[in-house]
Amino acid sequence: MKALVLGGGGREHALAWKLAQSPSVQTVYVAPGNGGTALDERLHNIALTDVVALREWAQQARIDITVVGPEVLLAAGVVDEFRQHGLRIFGPTQAAAQLESSKAFSKDFMRRHGIPTARHETFTDAVLAHQYVQDQGVPIVIKADGLAAGKGVVVATTAEQAHQAIDDMLTSNSLGVKHNQVGACVVIEEFLAGEEASFMVMCDGESVLPLATSQDHKRLLDQDQGPNTGGMGAYSPAPVVTSEVHARVMREIIIPTLEGMKKDGIVYTGFLYAGLMIDAHGKPKTLEFNCRLGDPETQPILMRLKTDLFSLLWAATGSQLGELGDDAVQWDSRTALGVVMATRGYPLAPQFGDTITGIAPEAVDTKVFHAGTAWDGHHLQTHGGRVLCVTALGRNVQMAKESAYLKVKQIAFEGQQYRSDIGHLAIRSTTAPLPDLPVGKT
Ligand code: AMP
Ligand code: GLY
Repeated sequence: MKALVLGGGGREHALAWKLAQSPSVQTVYVAPGNGGTALDERLHNIALTDVVALREWAQQARIDITVVGPEVLLAAGVVDEFRQHGLRIFGPTQAAAQLESSKAFSKDFMRRHGIPTARHETFTDAVLAHQYVQDQGVPIVIKADGLAAGKGVVVATTAEQAHQAIDDMLTSNSLGVKHNQVGACVVIEEFLAGEEASFMVMCDGESVLPLATSQDHKRLLDQDQGPNTGGMGAYSPAPVVTSEVHARVMREIIIPTLEGMKKDGIVYTGFLYAGLMIDAHGKPKTLEFNCRLGDPETQPILMRLKTDLFSLLWAATGSQLGELGDDAVQWDSRTALGVVMATRGYPLAPQFGDTITGIAPEAVDTKVFHAGTAWDGHHLQTHGGRVLCVTALGRNVQMAKESAYLKVKQIAFEGQQYRSDIGHLAIRSTTAPLPDLPVGKT
């Protein structure tokens, strides 16, 4: 079989690395890939990013299965394009991907279908938005509509920050966020207190298969300080998702979402990612939906996946997920933890072109997933905001953390930035990890 992974980040490196381990897969192509996928002799980079060009190439190369990494391609309709030409692809259609590509769409969807989330209002008029903030007070959360790579969200603790965010998003559009047809739009929502977790599932349109839980660190700096980023590190499993919380998330969020989509005439296929806030009583609320796997959560999750990823994707693209049975997916019982190394200036003004040293050799149970890297002749260089995700398995989160940081300290590039406290919430937690759960029907 020939597999194609679309995207070029750390998540796609992990998907391609895992697919290449399948006995059913002879060749894995990655479009466009990165410096890490270029280095691995089992993987082949294809320098294409355009939806139609990708589909034409996949037809010519007789690709058996394609899996989509980034939201941008999903929002551009890559799944519709491939399917219209009879190609097997795992991901949501363009209509389904609106759950992520438009915050206004997803918030209205959740309200309509009674899916627990923060109270919100949507504004296109800055005067009304400012008035609403004045009425509600702080803390309050201001979100730009449209895809902003995790950076279009301001958690305002002062009224000044909230008003500034509204001006930035509605008046000056300083985030460069893609607007909907009617112009700039912000969602203003209630601040939720609690602990976050990332909850991802695979859907084939009929059945749903939960993946291992994980937790991401969105802020740039230690102690969850500094600006929001795409994610500075992650680990799996997330102890905050106890088996009771897991059952509630499936019952109150995941299944109603898939059923709600069906009621609205959209069959959801692909990975679905619910970003959760879990309060002190174990009640989960949805912060956001993503129509794809998380990055960097995928890197530790796939380090723990023992099941053949190809067989899962094959079943999910043939509507056979529900036939896989209770042992459909097996996880390494150890913890995996990934530390993102970012380039200087990330996330506001990332600078590229610095030489990276010290990646080889990798230790057993440690894997350096590349994201923003590229080869310049003989040198590996920084080529994107998040450069690497150094991921390690350990018997507990502390041991996984020690192994990952041991490797991080061997790697060097000019202006490197990384957090030193990835996993801090899990290390503090005393909650037992979650047992793996079976396939459920939607
Ligand atoms: P989002 O892109 O919507 O997931 O938001 C990015 C980050 O902002 C989340 O991971 C949270 O840390 C924070 N955040 C978003 N919405 C809220 C909320 N309603 N209450 C508290 N924090 C939030
Ligand atoms: N790590 C968060 C995301 O992928 O959206």
